[in-house]
Amino acid sequence: MKLPPARTKGNISVEEALSKRRSRRRFQAGELTSEQISQLLWSAQGAGARGLRPAPSAGATYPLEVYLITSHGVFHYEPMVHEIEAVTSGDCRPQLTKACLNQSWVDHAPAVLVIAADYERTARVYGPRAERYVHMEAGHAAQNIHLQAVGLGLDSVPVGAFRDKEVKQVLSLPGSYEPLYVIPVGCSAE
Ligand SMILES: Cc1cc2nc3c(=O)[nH]c(=O)nc-3n(C[C@H](O)[C@H](O)[C@H](O)COP(=O)(O)O)c2cc1C
Repeated sequence: MKLPPARTKGNISVEEALSKRRSRRRFQAGELTSEQISQLLWSAQGAGARGLRPAPSAGATYPLEVYLITSHGVFHYEPMVHEIEAVTSGDCRPQLTKACLNQSWVDHAPAVLVIAADYERTARVYGPRAERYVHMEAGHAAQNIHLQAVGLGLDSVPVGAFRDKEVKQVLSLPGSYEPLYVIPVGCSAE
C-alpha cells in the first residue's frame, strides 16, 4: 500500500517538539490518517537521497525494520518505496498487549509502531560492537517517532517491557529480527 509523500516542513519548531514530548498513555479511539501514518514511519526510517534516512546508522548498515500494527493487521514498512506491506490481517493488539506485560495502552492505541533489528547487517561490518550500535540506532529512530508525534499533535509512549519471543510470534517477525521497541501512538485522551 503506497503511503502519501512525507512532508519535510511542519508547524512547530524542534525546540517546541522537544519541550512538549512526554510519555502519554491515554489515547482516543479512532484511527490515524494515512498522512499521519506516513509521517510517523518516515520519521523512523524513511529513505531520502541515496537511501539515507532521518535516523543515523553506523556505516549506513540500516539494521532496523519498522512494523505498524493497527486494528486491521500487521504491516511492514518498506522505506525505499515508502509503502507498507501487509504481514497478517486482523487485530492482534490484544495479543501484543499480553506480550507487553498487559500494558493496556498498547491495546488502546490506534497505531503501534514496533522497531525491530537484524543485528547481522551491522555485525558483518562492526563485529561485537554492532550490538551497541544497533541499540543506539533504535533510540534514534524512537526519538524521531516521539518528536514527529508531537509535531502531528499526537501522543506516544516508548514501551521496552515485553517478552521478546511472544512479540516476535504475534508479529510473525522473521527469525533474524529482534523486537527492540514498541511505541503506541494516538490522539490524546488526557
Ligand atoms: C528504554 C525505555 C523503556 C521504557 N519502557 C516503558 C514501558 O515498558 N512502559 C511504559 O509505560 N513506559 C516506558 N518507558 C517510558 C518511561 O516510563 C518514561 O520515559 C519516563 O517515566 C519519563 O517520562 P517522560 O517520557 O514523560 O519524560 C520507557 C522509557 C525508556 C527510555
